[in-house]
Amino acid sequence: MSIIKVKNLSKEFHIRKREDGLVGAFKGMFSNEKIIKKAVNNISFEISKGEIIGYLGPNGAGKSTTIKMLSGILVPSSGLVEIKGLIPYENRIENARNLGVVFGQRTQLWWDIPISESFSLLRHMYKIPTTKYKKNIEMFSEILGISEFYNVAVRQLSLGQRMRADLCASLLHNPEILFLDEPTIGLDVVVKEKIRNFIKEINKSRKTTVILTTHDMEDIEKLASRVIVIDQGSMMYDGKLDRLKNIYGTEEVIEVEIESNIKNFDKLYKMGVKEINHKKNKILIKYNKEYINSATIIGWFMKQGKVNDFLVHGINIDEVIRKMYEKPMKNFM
Ligand SMILES: Nc1ncnc2c1ncn2[C@@H]1O[C@H](COP(=O)(O)OP(=O)(O)O)[C@@H](O)[C@H]1O
Ligand SMILES: [Mg+2]
Repeated sequence: MSIIKVKNLSKEFHIRKREDGLVGAFKGMFSNEKIIKKAVNNISFEISKGEIIGYLGPNGAGKSTTIKMLSGILVPSSGLVEIKGLIPYENRIENARNLGVVFGQRTQLWWDIPISESFSLLRHMYKIPTTKYKKNIEMFSEILGISEFYNVAVRQLSLGQRMRADLCASLLHNPEILFLDEPTIGLDVVVKEKIRNFIKEINKSRKTTVILTTHDMEDIEKLASRVIVIDQGSMMYDGKLDRLKNIYGTEEVIEVEIESNIKNFDKLYKMGVKEINHKKNKILIKYNKEYINSATIIGWFMKQGKVNDFLVHGINIDEVIRKMYEKPMKNFM
């Protein structure tokens, strides 16, 4: 049984034609010429209760526009959206009870009041019973550590604190579905990890269905087994992350920091490494996972001298999409 149904969904924006530069901008103010931007183009998918979906695509792909149509903020140009049998933009209030939404780029909280007061406003808006509310605050404090800034106004919070507060706020009314639009953008690793653990926990304990848009492949790796990829409004892929990685994500990069000065990398190239760049004691190694693995590479460096640090960069989503264009899969959906 699917909790979210999207069928042939499209959204067009009619934008006034604008030429480059100041004069162009000025002309554009009076021009009636419109261009049509297809932000979302004929997208279909269904999501079952309890799934975590990674909704991926480069900048401008149409991710936020999709999320806005799913939450009822935007009306589709054509096609159908159904959330638990409701059409979001026709049943905004009823739909909101089923939804928690977080936009990483802007807060849903009141700017000038402490988050504790924002929360209690939400509590009244959603008529959340006291016991449920208290239980939630307790659980969120534990995993996200919000108590340290519980009485601080949003405008005084750091980005990471604000994002944690926003995440709590979106879940106070125990929604069945959570939309997260770039929830980890601009955050440091520690906060990112907190947020990922929190999403995982909520999904496990409450069977909350999650759609997550992100640029961070690590978010996806840690949270989603199914991904939907869009580019320029159109759907490129819907399926298991593993399959996508097997087909396109064969190239990885390792960053190694060493103490000794290595000059000769011939052996590494012979072992199947594709590209090596080094700046001082930092070395970037690009390799194809089909030929050599990270452990072998790090092992080789450890034999050459002291390795201070290393970091394996996974596949990059923009790169995967670029490769999808170069070598499209047949019947990939
Ligand atoms: N309100 C709007 N008016 C005109 N164009 C828009 C509007 N919102 C988004 N777009 C355009 O639609 C495309 C998709 O945008 P968006 O959904 O924000 O992409 P993403 O979230 O994947 O980065 C972009 O080209 C963007 O410029
Ligand atoms: Mg966006």
